[in-house]
Amino acid sequence: MVLVGFMGAGKTSVGRTLARQLGWVFDDLDDLIERSEGRTVEEIFQQSGEAGFRAAERKALQELIAGLSSAPRVIGLGGGAFVQPDNAALLGGPGLKVVFLDAPVEELWRRCELDRRERPLQRSEAQFRGLYEERKPAYLKAAIRIDTAGKDIETVTAEVACSLDSGHPG
Ligand code: S3P
Repeated sequence: MVLVGFMGAGKTSVGRTLARQLGWVFDDLDDLIERSEGRTVEEIFQQSGEAGFRAAERKALQELIAGLSSAPRVIGLGGGAFVQPDNAALLGGPGLKVVFLDAPVEELWRRCELDRRERPLQRSEAQFRGLYEERKPAYLKAAIRIDTAGKDIETVTAEVACSLDSGHPG
């Protein structure tokens, strides 16, 4: 299964927790990019711009999908990955369930502010909101949407696990 959503949605935390609970493999696409590039996401943005980052992101996703075995796994994508139509197409095959973790943009902003991780595309609150609104229609193409508003990691993880069984959240 693949977790998508905006910055602050909880893709990495929920993905890691879910994989641990299920005994599945967890892959974080940003980690794979950093490993293959030998640079942090922030450095890639600084040195190669967003276009350079998107190219590295696409390559890492292609390699990940091409190397998939039958072992069950959770894949967490960076906030912009699923928004690129080529990437969404790669994830549209059978056997991959795409789950969109959503929350009100004010909450996503607050979570990112608390988290203090360096995010090149988190500039001002207005820019953050605009980017969220621009991307939301693309996220809604995921098979499943889970509202994470006001919920902790454990609750969201349980909802995602439920959605794996039923095909629907809750
Ligand atoms: C990005 C989100 C980041 C990271 C990069 C670009 C985006 O991941 O991939 O900074 O375009 O929204 P997170 O969603 O894990 O913060």
